Amino acid sequence: MKITHAIIPTAGFGTRMLPLSKAVPKELLPLGSRPAIAYVIEEAVSAGIKNIVLVNHAQKTAIENYFDINSELDTQLRAKGKETLADGLNFLPSDVSITSVRQGKPLGLGHAVLQGRAVVGDAPFAVLLPDVVLDPFTGGYGRDNLAFMLARFAKTGRSQILVDPVADGDIHKYGIARLANKEMVAKGNSNQVFDVQGFVEKPSLEVAPSNLAVVGRYVFDNAIFDYLAKTVPSVGGEIQLTDAIDALIGAQGMDVVTMMGGSFDAGDMESYLKAFMYFAGRQLGV
Ligand code: G1P
Repeated sequence: MKITHAIIPTAGFGTRMLPLSKAVPKELLPLGSRPAIAYVIEEAVSAGIKNIVLVNHAQKTAIENYFDINSELDTQLRAKGKETLADGLNFLPSDVSITSVRQGKPLGLGHAVLQGRAVVGDAPFAVLLPDVVLDPFTGGYGRDNLAFMLARFAKTGRSQILVDPVADGDIHKYGIARLANKEMVAKGNSNQVFDVQGFVEKPSLEVAPSNLAVVGRYVFDNAIFDYLAKTVPSVGGEIQLTDAIDALIGAQGMDVVTMMGGSFDAGDMESYLKAFMYFAGRQLGV
């Protein structure tokens, strides 16, 4: 079954990015010459996604406006002969739509994804966490990972989660995959697929079941919505996506896919600054 829907949760306040994120949504902070979320949307579109659902917050409508056509500005630019500039602002293909729903209460990532159900309906769908930006410049384009996961879902019907081997010191920041055997996987040059038995959210190194961290790209069978609707708050008092994923694994099984190329955490100040320098450097050719 071909997947054309993707949910992107954007309602979070980005407290790790203060003070930058006080008045500007963290998703609109620049990576080089474009806002971070523009690369995430481009990744989704290049993998074949047509219907993008932002799960947004009332104070972050600037994200919706960025992807809208500002016809006043468009008319003004064209009247002055600045056609190329105007064309560059209306960059989404005409068959791609961006819809926005609201997450009025900060009840967790699982709750945010569930808010997308009103638009996605009965279809399978992808989820992209916008804090994570895949490297669009090197390594055969990180965005090919999502295309690989979508193709595998179309072939097997099994849900797919992108993972990347991380250093011991970073294990506690991520959801970590539990495989059939406790395996340590080296980063390779291809998408490797493993049968996954569950995930542990942000474990200590001692209890971590592998070194494979959830990167923030998911392809789900629609049944995940039923499990999310039944999920009760757990870690941090929030409705965790990880809990619904474990329920889905119990019912249908699931694959993890190792990531090709690099990724950046644009939701954390130190890695955001490194990402900014990398993107700016590539765009300046230095
Ligand atoms: C979320 C997920 C976690 C994943 C991470 C990737 O955590 O819950 O499993 O590894 O995104 O960035 P967050 O960073 O929102 O706390």
